[in-house]
Amino acid sequence: MKIKIKNLELEIPILNASGPRCTTEKELLDLEDSLSGAVVSKSCTLEMREGNKGKRYWDCETLSINSMGLPNLGFEFYGEMSKKVKKPYIISVGGLSLEDNVTILNHFLTLEKKVGIELNLSCPNIIGKGQLAYDFDCLEEYLTEIFERVDISKFLAFGIKLPPYFELTHYVGVYMKISKFPIDFITCINSVGNGLVIDYEREKPVIEPKNGIGGLGGSIIKPVGLSNVYNFKKLFPKIDIIGCGGIETGKDVFEYFLAGASAVQIGTQFHKEGTGCFKRIYEEFLEIMKSKNYKSLSDIKIIP
Ligand code: DHB
Repeated sequence: MKIKIKNLELEIPILNASGPRCTTEKELLDLEDSLSGAVVSKSCTLEMREGNKGKRYWDCETLSINSMGLPNLGFEFYGEMSKKVKKPYIISVGGLSLEDNVTILNHFLTLEKKVGIELNLSCPNIIGKGQLAYDFDCLEEYLTEIFERVDISKFLAFGIKLPPYFELTHYVGVYMKISKFPIDFITCINSVGNGLVIDYEREKPVIEPKNGIGGLGGSIIKPVGLSNVYNFKKLFPKIDIIGCGGIETGKDVFEYFLAGASAVQIGTQFHKEGTGCFKRIYEEFLEIMKSKNYKSLSDIKIIP
């Protein structure tokens, strides 16, 4: 079940989402040894970061909430890892300023192994900073600078990670701002930002940073993820959409393909289950393909 996104060749279209279990060398090498179709790194910044303090991740059956605060080992570490990752390697870039991202991206162009880039425009958990992808005016300026100052075409593929949108006019708004840039893929959705989960027994939020406010994931967000994939695919028929949000089973993967995804990523379920989730979910997906007598991904027709 191969898929090619620009020059990024994925043998399996199911990847890890940037976020859980992809920060340290051990975690990245465990992904290398798994059935994840690529290794996607934690979003990296110029300097290493410890992230937010206190309990910062919580989950239950249907839902996760996190306010990690971008803990990562710094961009140079993720560049170095390109020597050890043999699979397609997608580095998530989450610098705290435009200047930082230009520096980080230009550094990744000097690596011997070509990498894919997922530019994260949608981190909800940095104290004092909003999500760039919700600021339509800044978004265009930002991408203009990036494309002027970095030779983006030299990456295996270049994509952006977007937050969920909830209003049809917002999809068009994003389209107006980004359609002029040669972006190879859009990953959507990041977590549903700024949720609040309260434990009524303890009479406290379940996580500590930012008064308990954090990004939501898990199966409850799947309908939002499907809708974002569907709406962006309609607007950008030529751009590959990587679907993310609430995938737990092969059936969920199949639904994302029906909505228009070319590949998918798994976050909350990967956090819960570990790297075994990629084999299980892929096998479940193959079983569905077989039951429908579909031989390749192109047999799946996007819903009208
Ligand atoms: C973090 C959360 C995100 O949703 C993201 O896109 C990047 C970083 C975090 O809190 O670490």
